[in-house]
This record gives sequence, structure tokens and C-alpha cells, in this order.
Amino acid sequence: MKLFLVAGARPNFMKVAPLLEAFHARRDQLPELQPFLVHTGQHYDTQMSDEFFRDLGMPVPDIHLGAGSGSHAEQTARVMVAFEKICLEHKPALVVVVGDVNSTMACAISAKKLLIPVAHVEAGLRSRDMTMPEEINRLCTDVISDFLFTTDHLADENLVAEGCQRERIHFVGNTMIDSLQKHLSRALAVPLPQGLEAGRYALLTLHRPSNVDDPATLQRLFNAINAIAEHISILFPAHPRTAQRLAGIYLHDRVRVIEPLGYLAFLGLMARSRLVLTDSGGIQEETTVLHVPCLTLRENTERPITCEMGTNILAGTEPDEIVHHAMRALNAPPPTNRVPEKWDGSAGGRIADVLISWLLLNRQVAAAQHGLERSR
Ligand code: UD1
Repeated sequence: MKLFLVAGARPNFMKVAPLLEAFHARRDQLPELQPFLVHTGQHYDTQMSDEFFRDLGMPVPDIHLGAGSGSHAEQTARVMVAFEKICLEHKPALVVVVGDVNSTMACAISAKKLLIPVAHVEAGLRSRDMTMPEEINRLCTDVISDFLFTTDHLADENLVAEGCQRERIHFVGNTMIDSLQKHLSRALAVPLPQGLEAGRYALLTLHRPSNVDDPATLQRLFNAINAIAEHISILFPAHPRTAQRLAGIYLHDRVRVIEPLGYLAFLGLMARSRLVLTDSGGIQEETTVLHVPCLTLRENTERPITCEMGTNILAGTEPDEIVHHAMRALNAPPPTNRVPEKWDGSAGGRIADVLISWLLLNRQVAAAQHGLERSR
């Protein structure tokens, strides 16, 4: 009995690692279950993929599809075709996808059309912004998934409002936070880059197409970032998409651009920073748990719980607004926010419990049917 766990891009790896671990820890409950780690290859650079596997202690993937980059249609199609082939070959009893990247949706569709049940981890998040490719991926994946594992009660409400049957929804918490809690002490042992002192620098990430693809938009954002750099040094590990577009953009001397970082180095930097500026999804959640102020440089967020009870401020993309929020955060005492319910390091275990119970039940039903047929 095989179970496929799919990871494709950088933000998937820390969500999948706790699931793999949870299934291994429960192997006595269903010894014939074989969890298979499938890497689609959406991210393929050492810094975007291999370093994460090493830092998270993940095994080499059982199957690598080597999909690579391309337009959305090309990338999605390549993953779908390759994933369909391995589903036909291995006939998994269940496919688990995480997050909202192209690989998530592609694998969910391929599996579902082969009548293989699909579980979506991090279901129900909605930005209501249909210009985001991730929003399309989230909607398509959720509508066809058999198991919808959610990180907070707002996600449950979104799914119910869209007409999902309640029995498909399981509020389990956040597997990304499982990884954070497990690895934080190792991350804090990674030395800070030369010249940086804990609590005296800001950390920047930017990669959304809507922020980085148009040079004028990117320069406007950097006008704000340059103004903030007058007050605090800013470290900027640049995503490949953004790095390709930085030529011609004016950066303040105190904005230091570096290569993308592995999981531990980045987590360690985030935990010790005074302020984070980002357009990422997951970083809004990680900073909430780390109690580090986070300015999200977007007009919307699919993770409103991080604004409701966390450290996240939706700062938008207008330079004056961004600088205003940054100054407020820098002049305020460190946050003492609440952490969302069930973001406690045990989400992977809750998911494995639900899925193993279901697989056991299925096995019993299949055995009973087999018995009936033989007695006829
Ligand atoms: C993808 C996800 C996004 C996630 C982000 C995190 C989708 C729609 N987007 O965006 O949700 O937040 O990953 O990183 O799935 N590239 C490399 N090396 C790599 C990977 C990408 O150089 O290992 C370059 C390629 O030039 C590529 C570009 O980055 O064209 C964009 O990569 P892609 O996977 O298409 O989307 P991301 O912007 O990384």
C-alpha cells in the first residue's frame, strides 16, 4: 500500500518533512503502508531545493519528476503528465499535496482523474485575489480534494462558505510550524553573517511576480526599502526570479543582497531580526510564531489570522505607507502576540492519525468484501 507525499517548490519542503516523520513514527499501526516522497522538480537549484532537504533531514526523494521551470501552463502540464505516469505505475492508495504551488494543483488533478483520493494540507486559505496564480491553485486543489487539512478556523469558514461538506474538513494546525519548532535551536546556532547583530537588522524577501516583474513597480518598492535602510541595515536573500531583475534598480548601501539561503540559515536570521519585510506567504506565519514584526508588502493576504492575532501588518505596496509602518514597528517594543490555535508542533501527527484511520477502515472494508465474494 503506497502513499505519495508530493513536494515541488521551496515552500513545500518544510510542510512535507513533518508528515513523512509522522507516518514513519506510526508504521506499526499499518505496517504495509509505504510513504513515497515525490519531488516534482519545480525548484531544482541547490539553494532552492537540496539545502532544504539536508537542513530538514529529509531522505532523498523516492521519485524525482524533473519538471523544471517554464510558463505556468508548461510547468503545470509537465508535472501532470509525469505524475500521471507514476500514479499508473505505482497505484498509490492516497496522494497528499501541500500548499499552493503549481505542483500542488497539477498532482491533485492528475491523481483525482485516476480516481485516487487526494488530501490537501493547508486547505482553505483565500486571498480573494484571482490575479495570484496561487489563489487559482488553492481553489482548484480544494474543490477536488477528499481531505482538507486546515491551519486555522478562518480557513474552515472559507471552505464551508464555498459549499464543502464539513466531514471533508479537518482543522489540524500548521505543519510548517512543526518544522520551525523542531529546528529552531539548530537555526539559532548558525552564526549571523559578518557585521550583523541580533535585533539590529531587518530581513527582506521579495519574489511575487506582481512585485518584481515590472521594473517600475520594483523600483517603487525599493524606494521605500531604501528609506527604511537609513534607519536599519537590511539583508536581502534574493530569490532567482528577483535576482534576474535587480539590474538597473537603485539599492541603498545598507541593503545587502545575498544568494537565497537554506532553511536553517534563513530561520536563524528571521528569529534574530528586528523586522521582516516580505511578500511571501509562509514567512507571515513563521514571524507570528517567532514574535518578530512582519510587514507584508502586498495588498491582500490569504493568511489573515497572522494579522488578527500575530505580528503581521498588511503594509501594501505604496512607499509612504510601507515606510510609515516600518517606523512604527521599529519604534514599538517587541510584540507579545498570541499564537494561533494548534500551531504547536503536532500538526503532522494529527494529519497522519486521520489518514491512517481512514486507510485502516478501507482495508477492513476491502477484507470484508473479499470475504463476502468468496462465500458466494
Ligand atoms: C514558486 C511558487 C510560489 C512560491 C515560490 C517560492 C507557483 C505558482 N509559485 O514561485 O507560490 O511562493 O515558488 O519560491 O508555483 N528558478 C530558478 N531556480 C529554481 C527555481 C526557479 O532559477 O530552483 C527561477 C526560474 O528562472 C523560474 C523562476 O525562478 O522561471 C520562477 O520559478 P517558478 O517555480 O516558476 O516560480 P516561483 O517564482 O519560484
